[in-house]
Amino acid sequence: MPTKTKKSKVKRKELADPADGKLGVLLPGMGGAVSTTFIAGIEAIKRGIGKPIGSLTQLGTIRLGKRTEKKVPLIKDFIPLADFSKLVFGGWDIFRDNIYEAAIKAGVLKTELLGELVGVLENIEPMPAVFDKKFVKRLNGKNVKRGKTKMDLAIQLMDDISRFKKENSLDRIVMIWCGSTETYMESSKVHSSLGKFERGLKDNDPEIPPSMIYAYAAIKSGVPYANGAPNLSADIPALTELAKVKKVPIAGKDFKTGQTLMKTILAPGLKSRMIGLSGWFSTNILGNRDGEVLDDPYSFKTKEVSKLGVLEYIFQPDLYPDLYSDYYHKVRINYYPPRGDEKEAWDNIDIFGWLGYPMQIKVNFLCRDSILAAPIVLDLVLFMDLAQRANFYGIQEWLSFYFKSPMVGENLYPEHDLSIQLMKLTNTLRYLKGEELLTHLGLDYYNLV
Ligand SMILES: NC(=O)c1ccc[n+]([C@@H]2O[C@H](COP(=O)([O-])OP(=O)(O)OC[C@H]3O[C@@H](n4cnc5c(N)ncnc54)[C@H](O)[C@@H]3O)[C@@H](O)[C@H]2O)c1
Repeated sequence: MPTKTKKSKVKRKELADPADGKLGVLLPGMGGAVSTTFIAGIEAIKRGIGKPIGSLTQLGTIRLGKRTEKKVPLIKDFIPLADFSKLVFGGWDIFRDNIYEAAIKAGVLKTELLGELVGVLENIEPMPAVFDKKFVKRLNGKNVKRGKTKMDLAIQLMDDISRFKKENSLDRIVMIWCGSTETYMESSKVHSSLGKFERGLKDNDPEIPPSMIYAYAAIKSGVPYANGAPNLSADIPALTELAKVKKVPIAGKDFKTGQTLMKTILAPGLKSRMIGLSGWFSTNILGNRDGEVLDDPYSFKTKEVSKLGVLEYIFQPDLYPDLYSDYYHKVRINYYPPRGDEKEAWDNIDIFGWLGYPMQIKVNFLCRDSILAAPIVLDLVLFMDLAQRANFYGIQEWLSFYFKSPMVGENLYPEHDLSIQLMKLTNTLRYLKGEELLTHLGLDYYNLV
């Protein structure tokens, strides 16, 4: 049943300023598989060569009011989103390849398709990156900035951002981290407040990796920042503080694609029917550059933590000790070059039912990671821009739908269940437009209320 929300609360700036003007997209890691698949994909779709499959902003609908009203507009017609065909792309990478060369090397999209786009893709080149091999041990690239301190490097990034805006006559910009997964790190003293973090930048504190420098530069420049990798990046108190001060939306972490997407579809289903779990073994083979980076145990640890957390939060063993207090969860990623981006994932799930009788589920997902990630990048670009225009700032939990390790406010646990995440997202859109929120109660159809 639609629930009435208080009108006074609903009218937030009567949804934002319209999405007029030009939106820029800045991608750290713009030569990678995800970035190039995203950029080339948009250029292909603009030319009618393909469709934006996987993108909620382009293909999704939203139900308004009661089911009997039959009001189900497309999300993009319901809420003002920037026109994706007018996006302007920029970014940084440690390799100098232009987007055409990088997309060919990434090997995700067919050469014939890229051949049709060569003119436009060749003209997009990465700016020199802020890079530190200490945090991504498997890569060496020459397209790298020099600076005396990390603060110098942040200032160079901020200069890049304002030059990109000026040169392309942009009205707004969004930054999405599509760079490699950095080595595992936990939030520490230098991350605990903005003051300490800025001192750390000036003092070259070893606990500040490049992804945090990009996040700092973006937020400081008033640019919404989302993180597609599992490394902390903006997920530290210092940068959430800065996001509040600068009134900038932030989101992350780790695009929810492939095996984890499957997990967050399957696990809530098992839990809703009170089916027990004794073990979940997940293994992958992949051969792209991401796989090579994750072959380093320190980068893998970051990914592992992100992938493992999902089940713990979905199954809530403390609330369901008979079902989930003693399951074994293992995640493996194996670098296997012949597969390139065409990953293969296997899941063996040991479950138990009535009286504890065991059963098994096997999932063999032959997926294409970057094909699943590209539409997420598009949606995040458009929704992060929407958030900025709606004056939503700080952590955007309503975008958890897109992440393996959603950023959440202090003292909150992340919501991993894909269907709850989708409801959160669509209700946020209704809220922004002053529409009634859906609870799916439905009793009024039967005159029971
Ligand atoms: N492909 C997916 O489905 C998927 C899903 C979830 C998360 N991710 C994450 O998204 C990120 C991108 O994935 P990918 O498959 O495109 O990886 P990739 O290895 O193809 O691309 C990453 C790019 O980042 C560049 N890079 C590394 N450090 C940089 C820095 N400091 N500044 C600028 N550029 C830098 C690398 O040179 C590389 O071109 C990875 O962290 C990956 O773990 C990907």
